Parts: sequence; C-alpha cells; structure tokens
Amino acid sequence: MSEPTATMRPPEPDWSATTAGELVAYRDAENRFRASSAARAITGDPDPGAAIDWREVALPDRDHLAGSPPNAPISRWEMSSMTTTKPRTCGLTAAELVEGWCEVGVEEGMALIVHSSLSSLGRVEGGAATVVESLRTAVGPTGTIVTPTFTWQVTDPDPDHAGVPSTAVGERRAAVPIFDVDLPSSMGAIPEALRSLPDSMRSPHPQASVAAVGADAATVVGRQTLGFAVGRTSPFGRLHDIGGYILLIGVGHNRNTFLHYAETLTPHPRLKVRRFPMDIDGERVWLETLDVGNDNDTHFPTVGHEFEAHAGILEVMVGDAPCRLIPVQPLVSFAVPRLTELLALDAGQRA
Ligand SMILES: CC(C)(COP(=O)(O)OP(=O)(O)OC[C@H]1O[C@@H](n2cnc3c(N)ncnc32)[C@H](O)[C@@H]1OP(=O)(O)O)[C@@H](O)C(=O)NCCC(=O)NCCS
Repeated sequence: MSEPTATMRPPEPDWSATTAGELVAYRDAENRFRASSAARAITGDPDPGAAIDWREVALPDRDHLAGSPPNAPISRWEMSSMTTTKPRTCGLTAAELVEGWCEVGVEEGMALIVHSSLSSLGRVEGGAATVVESLRTAVGPTGTIVTPTFTWQVTDPDPDHAGVPSTAVGERRAAVPIFDVDLPSSMGAIPEALRSLPDSMRSPHPQASVAAVGADAATVVGRQTLGFAVGRTSPFGRLHDIGGYILLIGVGHNRNTFLHYAETLTPHPRLKVRRFPMDIDGERVWLETLDVGNDNDTHFPTVGHEFEAHAGILEVMVGDAPCRLIPVQPLVSFAVPRLTELLALDAGQRA
C-alpha cells in the first residue's frame, strides 16, 4: 500500500508555552512523519516502529504531566525527559550496558546490591555474564557487586507438620538439600552468573545468602546470623554501613530486600519462622529461627515509591528495562519510621 505523499514534518511547538494536548498532537504527527517515506531524506529509511515517548517525572514543585488539565502549559523540564525509542536490531553489548549504568547514576567505587530481571533488558549479547561484566566495569576495581542468592529449596516442605513426622513427611524432609556455597539460587540468571565467577564469595546463610565480587566482597559476606538473616548482622547491615546502593533492574520494590532490613529495625516487625536443615558436626539437624515476615506487596511498593518521590529518584531506561539506583542509608532512614507507622495502622485495624 502506498503511503500518503502529503506526510509533513510537524513544526516544533513553542516548548515554553505548549499545552499537554498540543504535545500529544505533536508526538503523534512526528511519529507519523518518522514512519513515512518522507523521513527517508533525513534518516535514510522510514522507521515503522517510530515512537517518541515521554516519561512522567515527579517534581517537588509541579504535578505530573498526566495530572495536568488538558490545556495547561507544561514545563520545559517535562519536555526534556522526552525520548526516542527505536526497535533494536541487535542485542545490548557490555559497552552499551556500562553507558546505561552510568546514566542510572552508578559510579566507580560504589558497592551495589542488584535485584534484576535479565529478560526485562531486552536481548543482551552474551546474556547474564555480560550484565555482570558490565556492572563490574561500571564500579571498577574499587567497587563491589552483590546479588541475593537465596535458596528457597532449603526449607521445610511441611512447615505445619508438628511432632514425629509421618513416613511421607520424613521422606520429603530428607530430600531437602543442605546449603553449600555451590547450591544454585532461585534469584535469577544474573545472580547465578555472579555466583559462578571464580572470585565470587558467598555468605553462609542456608536460605538468605548473598554472593559478592569486588573490593568489599569479603567484608560484605563475612557475617550473617541464622536468625534475622537480613538484619543488622548480615551482608545488608554491612552494605548499609559502607554506604551502599541498590540497583533495581526491571524489578520493583517488592524485590528490594533492604525494605526487609528496614523492617527489622522497626519496634514491631512482622515475623516468620525459618526452618532448614544443617550439618552440625556431621549430624543432619533441623533448625528453627525467627526472621521478619514476607510483605507480599502490602507495604513495600508504597514505601519504595514514596521514598523515590521524596528523594527525587528518576527511573532510567537501560535497554528495555526501567532501572533505579537507590542509596541505602537514606532509604532506610525513610523506611523505618514509615513502616513503623504502616504496621501500627495494620495493628490498629486488627484490634
Ligand atoms: C524472578 C525473576 C528473576 C525473573 O526474571 P526473568 O527476567 O524472567 O528471569 P532471569 O533474570 O532469570 O533471566 C532469564 C530469562 O532471561 C531471558 N533471556 C535468556 N537469554 C537472554 C539474553 N541473552 N538476553 C536477554 N534475556 C535473555 C529468558 O527469558 C530467560 O528465561 P528462561 O530461562 O525461562 O528462558 C525476576 O522477576 C526477579 O524477581 N528478580 C529479583 C530477584 C531478587 O533479587 N529477589 C530478592 C528477594 S525477593
């Protein structure tokens, strides 16, 4: 089908005075132009997937674009977040990823804990190993990369069965592996790639271990109590103390373990019992410890987003993945009183 010959490039609006409605019309007209053969003179080829887009940005003194009345003037600031997205023809390279991490705010010497989804990035040349390599390059030899390497398989398959186990329960419990540093984790391809590196170190907790590489790896993984495994005496406490950062790659605050850490510091945290087998002097025994409970998306997404708005943290796209870099200490300082408040409200509602 031939394209209409009359596709014209729209004139740029007056950025200082344009309204939200005019901006949408400009975007649509520019996208039509870029997708048409009229774009050939400028770009060489029409771009059928052309999509100028813009992100909503939270600013302390101004509403989001989406919240503006249809004809209200929008600011240059909001315009400046306009981006052009093009369908990629090849996978992301390590160099492109390094550039992306720098845009997110990663700097040399940082200690980062990374919560990630590899598939959210779009295709990456070399997969998870390339992502790990790029993160190491971004923080350099003085930096540290940490990933959770939790092992949900090391848990009681029959937690509600008390007393002497039936034969079936006994068999299921006997099949549960004892943690060792080579046990695969279920935290995704990127943690697995990092854990498998020859210089990677891993903390010893049967269910809540982390793996780390880099300058502070040994101190980060050095101590982790069996009870409250994500609390003060854990890799999370250490990362907090050394001024670490959290990098979320295509995942949300429901994956942000530092919110569990913050909860351990509240006066009345939700609690759970962990049960796991351990080898103690050659004997296989089951241990029970206390820890903070699961959030199940109750408060963590809210508290995480509130902190981002409070701290002015912006989402940056790396490949196809929305990414955020969050400083641990300010997050914890914000989250402890906020979670205390939310948990007290829950308790009030239950009373
Ligand atoms: C569960 C979770 C890991 C799933 O994310 P995911 O992107 O689907 O899975 P992974 O990160 O393991 O990446 C593997 C997937 O990447 C994709 N993939 C494979 N090769 C790829 C490549 N070269 N480039 C890009 N993607 C690729 C595939 O879809 C693959 O899935 P498959 O193995 O089933 O085919 C993620 O949602 C998550 O929760 N991450 C955070 C974990 C965490 O830190 N938790 C903390 C405590 S809650």
